[in-house]
Amino acid sequence: MTTFRTSKFPVLIIGGTGKTGRRVAERLTAKGVPVRIGSRNASPAFDWENPETWAPALECVSAAYITYYPDLAIPGAAEAIGDIARLAVRKGVKRLVLLSGRGEPEAQRAEQLLQASGADWTIVRASWFMQNFSESMLLGPILAGEMALPVSTVREPFIHADDIADIVTAALTDGRHIGQVYEVTGPRALTFAEATAEIAKATGRPISYTTISPEEFMQGLEREQVPADIAALVNELFTVVLDGRNEYLTDGVHQALGRPPRDFTTFASEAAATGIWEGVQ
Ligand SMILES: NC(=O)c1ccc[n+]([C@@H]2O[C@H](COP(=O)([O-])OP(=O)(O)OC[C@H]3O[C@@H](n4cnc5c(N)ncnc54)[C@H](OP(=O)(O)O)[C@@H]3O)[C@@H](O)[C@H]2O)c1
Repeated sequence: MTTFRTSKFPVLIIGGTGKTGRRVAERLTAKGVPVRIGSRNASPAFDWENPETWAPALECVSAAYITYYPDLAIPGAAEAIGDIARLAVRKGVKRLVLLSGRGEPEAQRAEQLLQASGADWTIVRASWFMQNFSESMLLGPILAGEMALPVSTVREPFIHADDIADIVTAALTDGRHIGQVYEVTGPRALTFAEATAEIAKATGRPISYTTISPEEFMQGLEREQVPADIAALVNELFTVVLDGRNEYLTDGVHQALGRPPRDFTTFASEAAATGIWEGVQ
């Protein structure tokens, strides 16, 4: 029989050392909720590539936050989400919160498989993270002072990872979020050139922006020895998903939390103040 476990059992945070998972772990810990980090380096280890590691990680947990790696857009990701959700439900872990992406058919298929699993689910369907510029693949170009991407006029309403973490934390600790799909964006859609300019202003350093062809972009990833599957994924995100389909704003942050989302200018000035864009922290 499936039972809802009390909070003496930890919440499993898959990707608990990543951009959103780390923030969710901090928030739950501050609330006194025990957490178990799901990562290849945790104990027990959790590895998406090795389904045998999934059951030990789900043992005796009250709920789970699921972030897939590297991205829900890759083939097989949706099946993995369906498989782990059904496994979790079988093990009595009904409360599942999934981080999803907008306008990605594979991500939307993953959502459907989660919804069909019998879980008490919440989906946070997010736009591009602001933190891609400070903690992920766009950090290198910012540090180098040269951003070159295969996008020009398309706008993206970047979301702050803290807003995602606030919603995920609320969802994991408050049953009112069960059955909700929160499509979340920031309050403004910016081009990548505008976002780069905001960061340049916040850092006080010039950072150029050049629109390049998808072929030049792929060649650059190859030169940087980005693994071929990751390069293909990143290329698809820039050339297929960033076609304008996601330019519209949503009120998901307000729906979930009753307050507006954080703005890119605030993100840029706060991130600059940490020194992350100077190469020192
Ligand atoms: N970035 C965006 O703009 C954006 C927008 C919308 C949705 N998303 C979705 O966000 C998800 C990623 O979440 P995130 O950005 O918070 O995480 P992230 O920063 O990409 O962090 C990666 C996390 O995954 C773990 N990890 C790496 N390889 C793993 C593996 N084989 N098995 C298990 N864990 C592994 C890492 O820990 P270890 O290295 O210690 O294992 C780390 O905790 C993706 O599914 C993506 O579709 C991203």
